[in-house]
Amino acid sequence: MSHAPGTKSLGFDEPLIFERSREGTVGANIPEPSVREVDPKTILPQNLVRAEPPDFPQVSEPEVFRHFVRLSTWNFSVDHGFYPLGSCTMKYNPKVNEWAARLPGFSELHPYTPDRLAQGAIQLLFELEQMLAEISGMEAISLQPAAGAQGELTALKVIRRYLQDQGNPRAKVLIPDTAHGTNPATCSLNGYAIVPIPINESGVLDPRDVAAAMTDDVAALMLTNPNTLGLFETHIAEVAEIVHAKGGFIFGDGANLNAIMGKARPVDFGVDAMQFNIHKTFSTPHGGGGPGSGPIGVSGVLAPYLPIPRPVKRPDGEYALSFDFPQSIGRMRSFFGNFSTLVRAYTYLRELGAAGITRIAEIAVLNANYLLALLEDRFPVPYGDGRCMHECVASDKQLRKQTGVSTLDVAKRLIDQGFHPPTIYFPLVVEGALMCEPTETESRETIEEFATAMISLAEEAARDTAAFKEAPQRTRLGRLDETRAARKPILTAAAASNRDG
Ligand SMILES: Cc1ncc(COP(=O)(O)O)c(C=O)c1O
Repeated sequence: MSHAPGTKSLGFDEPLIFERSREGTVGANIPEPSVREVDPKTILPQNLVRAEPPDFPQVSEPEVFRHFVRLSTWNFSVDHGFYPLGSCTMKYNPKVNEWAARLPGFSELHPYTPDRLAQGAIQLLFELEQMLAEISGMEAISLQPAAGAQGELTALKVIRRYLQDQGNPRAKVLIPDTAHGTNPATCSLNGYAIVPIPINESGVLDPRDVAAAMTDDVAALMLTNPNTLGLFETHIAEVAEIVHAKGGFIFGDGANLNAIMGKARPVDFGVDAMQFNIHKTFSTPHGGGGPGSGPIGVSGVLAPYLPIPRPVKRPDGEYALSFDFPQSIGRMRSFFGNFSTLVRAYTYLRELGAAGITRIAEIAVLNANYLLALLEDRFPVPYGDGRCMHECVASDKQLRKQTGVSTLDVAKRLIDQGFHPPTIYFPLVVEGALMCEPTETESRETIEEFATAMISLAEEAARDTAAFKEAPQRTRLGRLDETRAARKPILTAAAASNRDG
């Protein structure tokens, strides 16, 4: 829930933990060693023995604890409030997922534990694969990729290897204008040239454009459905037919699966390979960069190429991790993927069941449409005829023309209202894009509060724009130079004090 304007929370200043250090302060009582005969320095490889102990901060347990809790209050998370970052599905993460991921049998399991002693963990991987296969209709799943982007990369590697084995390597991949940036990046990393496909005036692909670009040299079309305008690709079946007829594959970017799961299976609208953004759709915390998880699903001919090892169930009922897939592209990640994230997704799916999954899609779409209806007078939504799937992409073009405030200013001023900003300037086909995805976890009241805040910003901008340029003002830090922060981050204490000094 947002703060009422004017309400402030305490903003603690926090020095570096090294600046809190006081000689001789300790945070833990380590018992004296009971074995004294051997000096560890004599048994360690001599090149690893230090003359001096490392320069760790010397602080007490409460100091360490408070330090990190205070730092955590500088950030905004989905546990703080509404986080409408479009195309990210920032839904609330049920805490039962955390309980399951912390069960010692999972959290303390060594990745090299022999299969026979890790039966429960392998069973979980096996069953999660089955659930994802059921939701998507894909024949085989790999849980290994560590993020959506890595899932895309893996799936295209699988497609590329299959085509090579057929003696039919191809050079190009078709990508619509609305695609996420990771799609072209995936193609480049796989050595494919990108052929951009425009969207039509309705915001979706026109089969005629796909037919014109589809040649014998095209390996795949990468398609997000619903797309990043929050629209269902209404011609998807025809588009898939065109691509398949020329021997190409449809790669489905599954980042927006939240809107259709339980309602439509990607396999039924022609998808041959896809990634699941587990950390979005299946509710694992992913703000601040991770950990993510991007399993992939593939159809029949591609299945033998999935990464190894793969969880299997032997005829005697025992689970194992099998490397016995000679056509596999190999490993894409160490061990078996981000295991604890997979435990969270498994818990989430078990808790909700098939009916719950379907209900999620219904409410996510309902919430997005309600938000669209509340916003569109002030922030028109250029595509979709007043309807959307999981997210609505509004535009502040009109507001900018009238008042001079930029999309970035609007996003920053929204933070002063207690909300995380929506995704801005994406997709590129919408000028002044504000891409809002409420997800199913937000209440009607929260959506109304957010819309009211957005409308109040439009009214404020019409009166006075000064505060917009200074925004955010209610956060601990004001507006940062985001380009410098991203390109030249200062990540060490020494570098930071050099800069200040
Ligand atoms: C449509 C779409 N595809 C792919 C990705 C990449 O997923 P990830 O961030 O997990 O790498 C995203 C992420 O926002 C996305 O929105």
